[in-house]
Amino acid sequence: MPTMTIDDDCGRHNRFLRALRRQRVDTTPVWVMRQAGRYLPEYRATRQRAGSFMNLCRSPELACEVTLQPVERFELDAAILFSDILTIPDAMGLGLGFVEGEGPRFARPLRTLDAITRLAVPDPEMELRYVPDAVRLIRRELRGRVPLIGFAGSPWTLACYMVEGGPSEGFARIKKLMWDHPEALHHLLGVLTQAVRAYLEAQVRAGAQAIMLFDSWGGVLAPGDYREFSLANLCRLAQGIDRGPEQVPLIVFSRGANGHLEALSQSGADALGIDWTQDLGEARARTDGRVALQGNLDPAAMYASPASLRQQVDLVLRSYGDGPGHVFNLGHGITPDVDPEQMRVLVDAVHQLGRPRDTLA
Ligand code: CP3
Repeated sequence: MPTMTIDDDCGRHNRFLRALRRQRVDTTPVWVMRQAGRYLPEYRATRQRAGSFMNLCRSPELACEVTLQPVERFELDAAILFSDILTIPDAMGLGLGFVEGEGPRFARPLRTLDAITRLAVPDPEMELRYVPDAVRLIRRELRGRVPLIGFAGSPWTLACYMVEGGPSEGFARIKKLMWDHPEALHHLLGVLTQAVRAYLEAQVRAGAQAIMLFDSWGGVLAPGDYREFSLANLCRLAQGIDRGPEQVPLIVFSRGANGHLEALSQSGADALGIDWTQDLGEARARTDGRVALQGNLDPAAMYASPASLRQQVDLVLRSYGDGPGHVFNLGHGITPDVDPEQMRVLVDAVHQLGRPRDTLA
């Protein structure tokens, strides 16, 4: 039987999934959080046609179109479903809207204990049907070029938005609930854990090839509160989600929770998203090869000159070091006023500088 070289089984179509499984790759795969977004003129055009951000999310055709835009323009190694983490609370009846320049806002935030007890788990094939429909359409249109990532918000992060009503500075409302009525918050988090589980399982059945949990506000909690109100449900999900016959990999991104990397690496996740305040090499040592790592260039590096950006890419690659298990990404989402050409500089730099040393010419 002929021996298979690394190049036979590698390339844009599968280096991302191989890296998540900590298998050897021809070069480091890269995708970028918010890669489909306002920094792309073609995104702004489609969004204008849709009329609103939620119309864009609710139309499988338009969601598919914007999901593919960055993958067609750049040599990215993965596509991410175009949607939002707040579709679940919207389907629970909170009425999601987006105020220009201010971000998400709920018409009916959770302001009473009674409102919390009345919440029900939405059926992802009914109220959220547009999401698995979009996943199916995107898989068809991608034609195997790159894998598709599905995602959801973590129960804690969704609860933050639902109780605060929108973006928050101090998280006073949710923390008051946490300390004054912990049983009510646990009830809310329990309902959300079931909802997230059903939602991600529907995405996997529809064809998502990896899934990611965004715990964007995990880092605002003191250590004991983090373990009780954020980490516990991340672990439940990591261990409880039916990931299908292919056992699609799960990435957990608990932003700002760098003090908990050891625990997160034992949660059942296959990979951890890492923000830019954490050294990747140190994260790798602390997680002891149990998980792949995804990250972690400072998103502001996208404003530096192409030469400086390349240098910063090189530093991130070197901080991870040799060996498999690294998926390159920014440490948080790409910002709307970045020059799209910088994305090409980033992707090319990762692919050129991210080759394993033994294959460098
Ligand atoms: O390309 C991708 O990464 C996929 C699409 C995606 C969006 N939101 C599209 C979006 C993903 C994965 C998300 C996740 C999301 N949404 C998170 C977790 C990641 C993070 O940023 O920590 C959070 C907290 C949200 C909630 C949310 N949605 C906020 C706070 C905002 C406003 C921020 C902003 O940039 O205006 C959104 C809106 C949103 N979600 C936009 C996009 C492209 C901008 C909407 C627009 O077109 O005006």
